Amino acid sequence: MTEHLEILLSEDQIQNRVSEIATQLRQDIGDEPILLLCVLKGAFPFLADLAKKMTGEVLFDFIQVSSWEGGRESKGSVRIKKDHDFDIKGMHVVIVEDIVDSGLTINHLRELLTTRQPASLRVASLLSKPDARTHEAQVEYIGFEISNVFVVGYGLDDDERYRNLPYVAAFVPSSTSD
Ligand code: IMP
Repeated sequence: MTEHLEILLSEDQIQNRVSEIATQLRQDIGDEPILLLCVLKGAFPFLADLAKKMTGEVLFDFIQVSSWEGGRESKGSVRIKKDHDFDIKGMHVVIVEDIVDSGLTINHLRELLTTRQPASLRVASLLSKPDARTHEAQVEYIGFEISNVFVVGYGLDDDERYRNLPYVAAFVPSSTSD
């Protein structure tokens, strides 16, 4: 079956929503420094835009986990491939994620990071697929809720491709006449 990409969220829609989340985060956390903890690689464009739109002191760090490793389905377990560098004890930490799907990754990260005693811990995810949830997941800031379709762009990949697209797109089957 052949398929093609259809834009689901435009660059403008994404940028406007990211600005709203940036403002909300600063309002909720107050004047203290905020550590944005980017979940590599998918959340990298979201982190970059979010950080630029935030006021006050903002730091960033990176963590990499694997639960999918190349396919279009979760492997069902989470492994830390790269841990963050900062000591997060006493810091206001925001986990910056591209998408919450089953909820497995974010649950695992929240559990792990809580043991490291941040002053506060929040999750900001650009996308959420509520219909795909198999694990109850707490996500304080959601950019957009989408249906249970596989999406790429704005950091999200299909086997490492399409991360560079400035919009989010979904694969849809092409008609045979295409
Ligand atoms: P979860 O652990 O099932 O919530 O999955 C989270 C991770 O799966 C995300 O950080 C993405 O890397 C990947 N993922 C989930 N849905 C998609 C998708 O539609 N496109 C690309 N990657 C996805």
